[in-house]
Amino acid sequence: MPSLSEIRFDSQAFQWALNTAATTYAFRWDGAALRHLHWGPRLTVDQAGVLARPPAARWLDGDGGDEELAVEGGAHFGPAGLRARYADGTRGLELDYVGSEISGLELQIRFRDCHFPLQVDLHYRLFEDSDVIERRITLHHTGESDSIAVLRADSACWVLPERPGWRLSHAIGGWGAENRLQRVPLPHAETVLTSRRGISSHQASPWLMLDDGTTTEEAGQVWSAALAWSGSWRITVARTPENRVIATGGFGHDDILQTLQPHETLSTPAFLGLYTGAGFGASRAWHGHIRAHVLPQPTEVRPVLFNSWEATGFAINEQQQMELAALAASLGAELFVVDDGWFGERNNDAAGLGDWWVSRDRFPNGLHPLIKEVRRLGMGFGLWVEPEMVNPDSRLYRMHPDWVLHHPHRRRTLIRNQLVLNFARPDVVAWAQDWLDALLSEHHIDFLKWDMNRPFTEVGWPGQPDPDRPWVDHVRGVYAIIDQLRRDHPGLRIECCASGGGRADLGMLARTDQIWVSDNTDAFDRLAIQRGHGQILPAAVMGAWVTDCPNPLTNRSVPLRFRFHTAMAGVMGLGGNLLEWSDQERDEARRLVGQYKRIRHVVQHGDLYRLRGPDAVQYISSDGGEVVVLAWAPDRHYGLGHDEPSPARQALPVLLGSRRGDHTQSPCLPSSEG
Ligand code: GLA
Repeated sequence: MPSLSEIRFDSQAFQWALNTAATTYAFRWDGAALRHLHWGPRLTVDQAGVLARPPAARWLDGDGGDEELAVEGGAHFGPAGLRARYADGTRGLELDYVGSEISGLELQIRFRDCHFPLQVDLHYRLFEDSDVIERRITLHHTGESDSIAVLRADSACWVLPERPGWRLSHAIGGWGAENRLQRVPLPHAETVLTSRRGISSHQASPWLMLDDGTTTEEAGQVWSAALAWSGSWRITVARTPENRVIATGGFGHDDILQTLQPHETLSTPAFLGLYTGAGFGASRAWHGHIRAHVLPQPTEVRPVLFNSWEATGFAINEQQQMELAALAASLGAELFVVDDGWFGERNNDAAGLGDWWVSRDRFPNGLHPLIKEVRRLGMGFGLWVEPEMVNPDSRLYRMHPDWVLHHPHRRRTLIRNQLVLNFARPDVVAWAQDWLDALLSEHHIDFLKWDMNRPFTEVGWPGQPDPDRPWVDHVRGVYAIIDQLRRDHPGLRIECCASGGGRADLGMLARTDQIWVSDNTDAFDRLAIQRGHGQILPAAVMGAWVTDCPNPLTNRSVPLRFRFHTAMAGVMGLGGNLLEWSDQERDEARRLVGQYKRIRHVVQHGDLYRLRGPDAVQYISSDGGEVVVLAWAPDRHYGLGHDEPSPARQALPVLLGSRRGDHTQSPCLPSSEG
């Protein structure tokens, strides 16, 4: 089917219309600013031709709430997404239109400051098979002298129509409690969603949805946006007393400053926007878009992995990992991942980070015998790394204490006994690239779990004339290393972890294959964490392990089947200490892993429908021919630890079937065992 996406320019009206299959996004240059006109259902050419400009703000208000890019300068008092200061102390921008270019589904509109040597390009990109609009800007210093201080460079400002009951959906959280969905009235104020942590964070996720307060799962308008950035970020949502709303966002937070030198260009990350008239099921459109246009290997079925972390912690050795590998393979695992503890003097979290050689105490013959055995058992081999970090108690830190983010006259704040290496430094990036490449070249490694276990503090780089650079350049350094590793080792797959889901964003997902969603593996808590994850991110990247009970984090016990059925909603893994599982538990696990393998192509690549009631989801395969329903009836009696569930109330129906009628398992009614 030919694509319905197209970009039209009406040179008489000086108006652009960006059409996708179901939506139109329109704006106009009026000689002073790029004024937004429409973002909603698709319009005909005639309808677009008569779009009225929204009523101008009253003369004193100057909220500037209809501009495609809210720029500091003039009588503009709303949140400014582009702010700059020049060498003579002048602030703000006065932009002249230079020209525009449409190239297929991409549009670039160029402006330049009327006096200072600053060029601003707005970029828009459409996709043939998606209603998502991708936006970003680039700034270019066109002069020969004097730097320009860029105080804020948002990727985009999304302008919404007037609605009386604006409501904001977003995710909050914390370590072990990511993705808690909030759906709250939007105040008549500026609401700031942000991370100041150097990662996209557990506490706030870089996406939002806005609706008029009446939207349901199946019906109603939703305007949503997600930022493709893995460092600190800020999205400001402003609602005026007249119920106009804008959402301007981009990388960096607060007063992070980036200096543009003559001829230098600053590119912002993509900020993606999506309008849909079909309710909060908008998530499906995000999932489809991410699978089609963000993930590096979208069509691959993700393997069932075993991960050693909760099973063995730091106390690992060759023999024990071989025993675990044999058990994991016998249960159906396809990938065996050795987590923390395999390198340097890493006996606990206080030492060893940075010393990336195989511990001879734990693996006297190196990793090769274990890898060989894992392969003999028919599994791939994976390894945990945390390249951005160093323990002060490490050889690396003793050799290069200046490699960490720091200020010379400030203490170096330790979190989890570690400091952050400054990946804005080319020498540090080169070091990491080298050891990772050597590790992957010398061993047959299929999978890396790339971890990042603490936020930034004392973000300084002594001697560097542009000291805030690490906020942005560290992230670019991480991206560059991963991109290079993938190019050099095409078979490599990567899991993105930051103490669980601290870096679950479209920036990392453009170069990793799945996310370790939370360090909280309690299947009961996971239901809410997974529901929040699925608002934007697809099941194909939602790593979910089955671990032991009582859960080490929450002390809660739930039946093994419940744990498996929770993990089945994403990319299932095994994370318990299989050495201690009974024969009966292993038999049940083997059966449930087999069951997951029969449905996972639908779960991972199908369309997700959240069914009525809090805890039921349905996946439909892309050809519509297969259906999986997972429903959970968690019982509060599971409680904490010793509170045994009452069997009669652990109903857990799992319906597996297909529209063709070739049920892989007959629909089962609430079972008595949970
Ligand atoms: C973090 C990760 C865990 C595990 C540990 C290892 O907490 O989220 O899954 O890898 O680090 O130290």
